[in-house]
Amino acid sequence: MTTIALIGPGAIGGTVAAWLAQDPALSITLCARTPLDDLQVETPDGVITARPEVLTDPGAARVVDWVLVATKTYDVDSTQPWLDRLVGEQTRVAIIQNGVEHVRLFEHLVPAERLVPVMINLPAARSAPGRIVQSRHGIIAVPAGRNGADFVALFDKTAIEAKAHEDFVSQLWIKLTGNSQSIVPTLTLRAMGPAWNDALETIVRGVVEECAAVGRAEGAVIPQSVIEDAINGARNTREGAISGSLHADRLAGHRMEVDARNGVIVRLGENHGIATPMNRVLVTLLEAAGSPWVEA
Ligand SMILES: NC(=O)c1ccc[n+]([C@@H]2O[C@H](COP(=O)([O-])OP(=O)(O)OC[C@H]3O[C@@H](n4cnc5c(N)ncnc54)[C@H](OP(=O)(O)O)[C@@H]3O)[C@@H](O)[C@H]2O)c1
Repeated sequence: MTTIALIGPGAIGGTVAAWLAQDPALSITLCARTPLDDLQVETPDGVITARPEVLTDPGAARVVDWVLVATKTYDVDSTQPWLDRLVGEQTRVAIIQNGVEHVRLFEHLVPAERLVPVMINLPAARSAPGRIVQSRHGIIAVPAGRNGADFVALFDKTAIEAKAHEDFVSQLWIKLTGNSQSIVPTLTLRAMGPAWNDALETIVRGVVEECAAVGRAEGAVIPQSVIEDAINGARNTREGAISGSLHADRLAGHRMEVDARNGVIVRLGENHGIATPMNRVLVTLLEAAGSPWVEA
């Protein structure tokens, strides 16, 4: 039996845990901040349910084979009491988050050679603890190598397509490039399509091209089509559409992953001497604006 502890059973963590729990060879423990009884996930293949062990006290946690972390990027440090109890000599730790800095965020908590950064492309939303809708089939990408191959094998019995990539850096940056434009509707609180004009296109193109330029300087291969698809996707959004989790978090009055999504473009751009004026202005404005419904 392979033992897995998942820290952060929210939209992504709950979905991944529910899928893994369908495999009787895997023993799943949820490490939760807010208690939950069970998992019910509406997937494109129908509803899947699971009733794994749930812990809310890190003191009750034991060493496992795998830890999966699926908190938001700003909650990394709060996972330390869990990691202190769950990670033994052989434990590998997979970080399932957005952004490109998985290893940097966790290397003070876990030896770097046992960290597995994970890119997940799977839209999921949580309506209550353990109640999740997965609106499309999902894919997972990890770096090639023994850790990546072993992580991919955990998903053999799930409908999540997991794959190890020699060029994992490009996987991360292609996703970030596609996501980068959603800072604009997160600020305007309106889908971009109905408001589209040349000036808005200049801003969106600037955000996306800056991201791709920094990603390329970091070693990623980002085809021009990724940039054009991101811009066209923004242009074609319809009134009322919510452009991803940054936008949804601001609407819900939640804290936002602004730094992991766009602040990182500015920070890493500085390292490479690449100017990122569009991202810098929008990050500054979004941080200053905050989440209006709660903080106003
Ligand atoms: N949702 C998506 O469609 C999607 C798609 C791709 C990537 N991602 C990325 O996946 C990551 C997770 O996003 P999400 O949408 O799943 O967020 P989420 O629904 O807010 O889930 C995060 C979970 O982490 C829990 N948590 C935070 N700190 C904790 C701690 N110290 N111990 C235990 N649990 C803790 C939260 O607890 P509470 O229950 O108390 O809030 C919540 O259940 C983010 O980096 C996001 O950008 C999300």
